Amino acid sequence: AIADLKGLKQGALRLAVVTTAKYVVPRLLGPFCQRYPGIDVSLTVNNHEWVLGSLADNRDDLYILSQLPEDMDVQVHPFLENPLVVLAQRNHPLAHERDIPLKRLAEEPFIMREPGSGTRKAVQKLFDDHMLQLKVKLDLGSNEAIKQAIAGGLGISVLSLHTLALEGHNSQLTILDVEGFPIQRNWYVIYPSGKQLSVIARTFFDYLLNEGKSVAEETAFQGVFSKGLKPEGH
Ligand code: PGA
Repeated sequence: AIADLKGLKQGALRLAVVTTAKYVVPRLLGPFCQRYPGIDVSLTVNNHEWVLGSLADNRDDLYILSQLPEDMDVQVHPFLENPLVVLAQRNHPLAHERDIPLKRLAEEPFIMREPGSGTRKAVQKLFDDHMLQLKVKLDLGSNEAIKQAIAGGLGISVLSLHTLALEGHNSQLTILDVEGFPIQRNWYVIYPSGKQLSVIARTFFDYLLNEGKSVAEETAFQGVFSKGLKPEGH
């Protein structure tokens, strides 16, 4: 194909990703775009429900999310871990406790993502499975707003570990050591089963699966696994 002439790929890549992927996918795009300077990327970041809508309407080339669509025929490939952790203000009374029971969390004021969020779905399912009711103090439509609310002492929350990228040692947030956490999840890159991927989309897809993890470990993970944010013994 002309787009492939001399290995110089030219064209557009359209990605739709869930909110937590914005902490990693741009880092992955760096080396990719250096390698293929002729590829222009459009990256849309929104919540789980919105990404599913985009998938259903075939608006983008590839989709990245952590929970799979239930009634769509899709090709699914995990490429990176996306664990959920319990976050609290750094000087929270539970900050130094170990193996905090889940039901103890249910007594804390909780800050929840908006309806339509995959994070919210996963949290709700865990508490439903244990027949526990969360004390939801407020709903916020952004991971960053939730982090600020935690730092401001409004409550605790459960978010992807990746939301701590760039937090560093002086972060006002800490990870609580709670029974059943971290909730292990992955990001999946998916596309409709019947869809023929463009050369460009296929190139990014292969890059994600072959190199995504190692590039993420070199770049995006640096802040996340810094000592200050890791509870001892983890
Ligand atoms: P959300 O999805 O932005 O819809 O919460 C993020 C995730 O599942 O990691």
